[in-house]
Amino acid sequence: MKRVRTAVFPVAGLGTRFLPATKALPKEMLTVVDRPLIQYAVDEAREAGIEHFVFVTGRNKGVIEDHFDRQFELETTLEARGKTHALAELRKDLPSAGRTSFTRQQEPLGLGHAVWCARDIVGDNPFALLLPDMLFRGQPGVLKQMMDTYEQTGGNVIAVEEVPPADISSYGVVARGEGPDNSFAITDMVEKPRREDAPSNLIISGRYILQPEIFGLLANQTRGAGGEIQITDGMKALLKDQAFTGVKYRGQSFDCGSKIGFLTANVVYALDREDIKDGFLTELKKLNLEARL
Ligand code: UTP
Repeated sequence: MKRVRTAVFPVAGLGTRFLPATKALPKEMLTVVDRPLIQYAVDEAREAGIEHFVFVTGRNKGVIEDHFDRQFELETTLEARGKTHALAELRKDLPSAGRTSFTRQQEPLGLGHAVWCARDIVGDNPFALLLPDMLFRGQPGVLKQMMDTYEQTGGNVIAVEEVPPADISSYGVVARGEGPDNSFAITDMVEKPRREDAPSNLIISGRYILQPEIFGLLANQTRGAGGEIQITDGMKALLKDQAFTGVKYRGQSFDCGSKIGFLTANVVYALDREDIKDGFLTELKKLNLEARL
């Protein structure tokens, strides 16, 4: 079984649910507390043992490339002012030299198409796929949990989570086969089914480990749900030849591509931070939220 060393981060979407913030600013640079979403995804990948970080970017996304570069003026200033902690934090966040690659999706034709744009960089290797607008709070990180499963199963691994039946039509949904409750064979997948057609209440939630044969299938994919080339349709085709395992991860997810998910994540992550929690709680109490609930 080949080790998973490469992760793909699709960051070429338009972020229409978050306009006007995303008119000039990439959605993936929105901050939860003081870190951009893309940094959380890179940290999660690094924790899972990823060594090569591939970003599929688009127009207006140059700032993501800058974020993963050194900022000499800033570093010199921090050094001169003795802000050694801030400097060390900045350096810690950076992938090593030569371990990032950037390619462009020239048109946002859908997630499946964005992944296909990374085919030459990934080559004939299994890879992780992380959607950076999905933020996962898990211990260990969700991708690490999936890697632990992958070491047992090989093949393709998808993070899944339960949602209320009323919400199911917004997501890719899996049908579950044999296996324990938290790690089982996937027997079918469908993108954005009608509630009555959904094979389960388990949705595909933004973290994947995929085999390179997906690229050949994505090349021939036509537009699916929402007029976009869907990764789920490619995976469904791959399911005919290869095993897929669903991992019901331990943790909590926030859809930071939506305003409610993003705002909730900011509250939860701020309360997680020892340096911020007390001050933040003091301000929250002043808002007298209970009276508004
Ligand atoms: P989303 O569907 O959440 O992103 O894709 P979006 O299309 O930018 O958002 P809305 O729905 O218009 O608000 C999940 C991830 O896939 C990337 C996005 O950048 C996001 O990180 N993506 C999506 C691409 O890279 N290319 C695409 O064509 C579509």
